[in-house]
Amino acid sequence: MTAPLIDPFQRPISYLRVSVTDRCDFRCVYCMSENMTFLPKKELLTLEELDRMCSTFIGLGVEKLRITGGEPLVRRDIMTFFRSMTRHLDSGALKELTLTTNGSQLAKFAGELFDAGVRRVNVSMDTLDEAKFADVTRWGRLPQVLKGIDAAQEAGLRIKINAVALKGFNEDELFRMTEWCAERDMDLTWIEVMPMGDIGNENRLDQYWKLSDLRARLAENYTVTDLPERTGGPARYVRLEETGQKIGFITPLTHNFCESCNRVRLTCTGELFMCLGQEDNADLRAALRNHPGDDAPLEEAIRAAIRLKPKGHDFDYSRQTVDGRVSRHMSHTGG
Ligand code: GTP
Ligand code: 5AD
Ligand code: SF4
Repeated sequence: MTAPLIDPFQRPISYLRVSVTDRCDFRCVYCMSENMTFLPKKELLTLEELDRMCSTFIGLGVEKLRITGGEPLVRRDIMTFFRSMTRHLDSGALKELTLTTNGSQLAKFAGELFDAGVRRVNVSMDTLDEAKFADVTRWGRLPQVLKGIDAAQEAGLRIKINAVALKGFNEDELFRMTEWCAERDMDLTWIEVMPMGDIGNENRLDQYWKLSDLRARLAENYTVTDLPERTGGPARYVRLEETGQKIGFITPLTHNFCESCNRVRLTCTGELFMCLGQEDNADLRAALRNHPGDDAPLEEAIRAAIRLKPKGHDFDYSRQTVDGRVSRHMSHTGG
């Protein structure tokens, strides 16, 4: 038996999020600036290296793998990687293989994802209005995403919609989105906007819509009951008694959830970020490439990194200033 990964605050680390590309076919205004410089392809871990990284983490007790980006489904031949992870589901070592996607490529890949053992997919979607969707994503088209969601449900994938709560942007769609998710039997989770990366002329404080306000507004139309359940992610859930549906809240600003953090993040170049909201990272690519036939140095590098996991993020807008910001874009670290 190998010892499990435990961080300095006694949190077991069982969840690895892997960003397989920093590229994306959208340019969401809260996530990227319009002109992004992306990494040269040669910097990326190959699919074989991604496999070796993930397999090593699984060997150290990671049970949940979430593939992110950028947009993970724009990485060339990414299905080869998903299929290679199926063996860990089959062996029982991996309990869940999943992804977070903008949905643009789901129509093409839904069936293959299901065949590889994926059962749940988180789709990022902030509005049901076609014009607003085009605005917020700059390059995205809503009908393509809706087609992707249809295909995913037909393939048997359970969908959770992730919406970033944006002041003056989707406030007026709270009930429409809630009803749409109920009709389609999809969960819906709202996320507070975090100060990650330079986003050009946009201002975080202008974007920020507190989820405590959103919840109060929901309670005007529904009976909202707190649920004790946890999925291993940061969301806290409520049930709307009138529809029975579940709504999640991810509240890095109004209610910190770091005390129960169970995750670390691998970037597409093999850096391990121990916290979404801090700069601390470890270069696992060197440990991997310098020892082709031997995983022991990589395992030791992972353990050493986990020993440096920070207590939590320092995001804070409460003084009407943006504090605790990190320089990386979300697409670098992978949501
Ligand atoms: P499930 O509960 O399995 O659905 O996963 P999840 O909520 O961890 O995954 P998801 O990709 O849906 O996460 C949604 C968003 O929550 C991410 O894109 C981030 O914006 C945010 N988030 C996820 N993990 C963290 C975290 O560790 N810290 C902070 N501050 N935000 C996080
Ligand atoms: N704050 C909160 N969520 C963000 N996302 C991207 N950038 C930010 C940000 N600054 C979300 C996307 C998607 C997930 C990967 O991260 O909308 O749901
Ligand atoms: Fe974990 Fe950092 Fe996210 Fe807090 S901000 S939940 S410590 S990754």
